[in-house]
Amino acid sequence: MSEGGKQQRTQQKRQQPQANLDNGQHQASQDGTANGASKRPGPQATSTPPRKKARLSGPAPAPAVSSIQEQRRLLPIAKGREALVAEIRANEVTVLLGETGSGKTTQVPQYLLEAGLAGAAGLIGITQPRRVAALSLAARVALEQGAPVGGTVGYAVRFDERCGAGTRIKYMTDGMLGRELLGDPLLSRYKVVVVDEAHERTLRTDLLLANLKRILRVRNGESGDNRNPLKVVIMSATLDAEKFSRFFSNAKIVYVKGRQHPVKIFHAVQGQTDYVDAALRTFFQIHVDQPPGDVLVFLPGQEDIESLDAAIMLFARQLPAGAPEVLVVPMFAALAGEKMGRIFGATPRGARKCILATNIAETSITIPGVRYVIDTGKAKEKRFLAGAVGGGFDTLLTRDIARANAMQRAGRAGREGPGFCYRLYTEDAFRAMAPAAEPEILRTGLAGSMLQLLCLGQDLQELELMDAPDVEAVSSALRTLFLLGALDSTRALTEMGRAMAAFPLEPPLARALLASKELGCTAEVLDIVSVLAASAPLFIDAGEQRGASVEARRKFVHPAGDHLTLLNAVHAYAAVGGGGADAKETEEKEEGVGRSARKEWARAHFVNERVLREARSIRAQLVGVCAREGLDARASVGDDADPMLLALAHGLAQNAALLMPDGTYKQVMGQAIVKIHPSSTMADKKVPAIIYNELVYTNQIYARGVSSIPKSFFASLGAFNRRAA
Ligand code: CDP
Ligand code: MG
Repeated sequence: MSEGGKQQRTQQKRQQPQANLDNGQHQASQDGTANGASKRPGPQATSTPPRKKARLSGPAPAPAVSSIQEQRRLLPIAKGREALVAEIRANEVTVLLGETGSGKTTQVPQYLLEAGLAGAAGLIGITQPRRVAALSLAARVALEQGAPVGGTVGYAVRFDERCGAGTRIKYMTDGMLGRELLGDPLLSRYKVVVVDEAHERTLRTDLLLANLKRILRVRNGESGDNRNPLKVVIMSATLDAEKFSRFFSNAKIVYVKGRQHPVKIFHAVQGQTDYVDAALRTFFQIHVDQPPGDVLVFLPGQEDIESLDAAIMLFARQLPAGAPEVLVVPMFAALAGEKMGRIFGATPRGARKCILATNIAETSITIPGVRYVIDTGKAKEKRFLAGAVGGGFDTLLTRDIARANAMQRAGRAGREGPGFCYRLYTEDAFRAMAPAAEPEILRTGLAGSMLQLLCLGQDLQELELMDAPDVEAVSSALRTLFLLGALDSTRALTEMGRAMAAFPLEPPLARALLASKELGCTAEVLDIVSVLAASAPLFIDAGEQRGASVEARRKFVHPAGDHLTLLNAVHAYAAVGGGGADAKETEEKEEGVGRSARKEWARAHFVNERVLREARSIRAQLVGVCAREGLDARASVGDDADPMLLALAHGLAQNAALLMPDGTYKQVMGQAIVKIHPSSTMADKKVPAIIYNELVYTNQIYARGVSSIPKSFFASLGAFNRRAA
């Protein structure tokens, strides 16, 4: 990573925590500027939180004694229950606005079910932009309903579903409901669809909204089948309701009054170059000086979360005896479901919880007990650079958040009492932020969504969307689908395109998997693709331990590059602790020797075991699709590398580059000069041709996930012939 230098600096600076704590009191904050995020700039807001208020959000015993039903009744939304249900009953589409934590997501589906709006056996679907939110909400609401997950309350996310015949409330990702359209274009099983977190304007939410509008015309329209009308509820945490209302022919807007206490906001006096380090210092300043109350830190991504987690743990051990214990709880999209419980659990008396979260904690998930927020002002944003280089590519860069996000983040501190938000950026920086984040449809790659729409007989350009995508992004997606063979030259969907859409994978990975059929290597390509589809990288890029991690993984290294290296690691993992690949079904519950041996193996090899387990469950799902699509999931070529590489090259045809006489690599389907990422086993190698998973753009364009392929492949890849045509 090009950020290696920065990380090293960070590590060095962290050697002296005490010094920082002693002389750096709130140097990242405390210029004492309160501003707009608090509705009532509290008279009690002072630069030192008043100690007698501490009980408000300390290790509060209150929630523990109240029953779960009592908690439900105390939510702000409960007061307006009757009126709310009446509005939704009376309107085809309702836009529901309310502060985060008021109870929209957990209560509205239950209210509607109990009011009979789902009929005798109909479904209420609630969509979330993030899978981890769908999982945790289903668990919570199932608990409130007193039934196991998969009973009355279930969930469906990509590669994982728990719903039964009796399921009435279904928490799901917006993407999953989008996929259901393929089999049920009118979503006829659903009586109510609740589109939650609509303000986030993810691509899938936008596509879903467009489809819901179409479905309403059919199911509720005058000519339509009125026996099965659909109700739509759009829920949002921010004040952008008019746009949604206008989109749905001036739908009714309903407000839930929340419970928001004043939040005192501090800005940094100077800009911070190293936000992880600044967050570390600010946390310990709070921890040492301030009354009880949990701390929520917003960070851009998993790597920063893990690095701050380690740093806090390191310094927490050096605190003087008697200092409150620190409980670090990470929270990010890729987190395993069972880990979510720790976030909601009450903080033990005398301890302080420190939650390290991505923007998932902005609105999707409310965490009780938070009194202090530390906001780095950063988030990861996916952005597609259409046509910028060759076919265009996705970037996932850490960027400044928008003002709306900053306000949401600050608001998290004022849920249960007056709170404090420490912004690690200046007030000028806050004012310079964009007012709101751009809808994803305007900045992301569209190939996967376009393929799905084509399967529905829809055309992205003709769909009625809240915001129409860029022409260039549309043509780039069309080109990708054409090169992958999903579209023919008349832009019509091919058999291949249909088969690709059957797999819940990005088009390139689906194409690689389908190519494995004739090449006889489906078993291997499944292994590889499952890891690539997981939510985090397999190999842990161990910062200052880079040398050790490279050494530990040396035995997996395959001369052909990263894809087969990854396959070697998957095979090695399966062989550990006596558990072969077939042991996977029992693995989750298995507590014995095999389990701990595998854990130890993963640690020793700097391999992310969570990713391996996630990949196994992805693989199991894909095997199911393979069976339906006529692929033999057991077809294997053993150690023969070429068929596997050729299958991968079918999917990654657009991601190929050739070695130039001057030693650089130049894209085959674009003009860009790409460098092999230093984390690759192919870094510094000179081979005639490469394929890669993705380009990442930092100070230069890096190819990541690189394999060497024989130049002769180009002759057999349809994509290249298509381009020539
Ligand atoms: O959607 P909205 O932000 O309005 O609120 P919600 O997600 O329905 O959350 C209502 C309450 O349920 C919050 O106080 C959460 O802390 C609590 N909750 C929980 O305890 N466990 C969960 N898994 C989800 C929510
Ligand atoms: Mg919510």
